[in-house]
Amino acid sequence: MEEIRFATIEDAEKIAELELLCFPVEEAATYSSIKERIKTFPNHFWLLFDCNENGSEKELVSFINGMTTNERNLRDEMYADSGLHNENGYWQMIFGVDTRPDYQHKGFATKLMNRVISDTKQNGKAGIVLTCKEKLRGFYEKFGFVSEGVSDSTHGGVVWLQMRLTFEIH
Ligand SMILES: CC(C)(COP(=O)(O)OP(=O)(O)OC[C@H]1O[C@@H](n2cnc3c(N)ncnc32)[C@H](O)[C@@H]1OP(=O)(O)O)[C@@H](O)C(=O)NCCC(=O)NCCS
Repeated sequence: MEEIRFATIEDAEKIAELELLCFPVEEAATYSSIKERIKTFPNHFWLLFDCNENGSEKELVSFINGMTTNERNLRDEMYADSGLHNENGYWQMIFGVDTRPDYQHKGFATKLMNRVISDTKQNGKAGIVLTCKEKLRGFYEKFGFVSEGVSDSTHGGVVWLQMRLTFEIH
């Protein structure tokens, strides 16, 4: 049984722990930047929990987060500066998609991403922008993201592709 909900400040520590299980330290978001993000855009910080039979939370399994902005491209400054968040921005940026290593390959990131996509559509946004390593391009293409080539990002000293999912605006 699992549950999807938005992050609260009390979740910051376990989110930072999971981030370090998923990313090398030079790419991982720090505890203080995670706290800032939750304070600034809690309703753009989705968590998926594995739950006990009585519904209580057992383990944080996956999370997805990012600010919204009118800027079309994800730039490195956004990771560290929550002040760049604009609640009315057209684009939902995604800074991270993490699943606990012992829960990977079970469809949890897919489930959470589908929820992010549906919430973001409901919020009336134009679409979603993320950067990823080449090996995950196929994973995001399954949701309809289209690669826009190598991004300007030098985050963690590696090469990132920028990918965009554009909703049909009615
Ligand atoms: C990437 C990550 C979030 C995926 O989480 P997950 O919960 O295991 O994902 P899911 O189980 O929903 O989906 C995995 C499926 O996506 C598909 N997939 C994965 N990579 C793919 C690719 N390059 N091309 C096509 N499909 C791909 C496969 O069908 C895969 O199934 P499998 O696990 O049976 O091989 C997880 O591996 C992770 O946290 N990695 C470390 C952090 C990271 O790199 N995050 C991405 C930042 S851009």
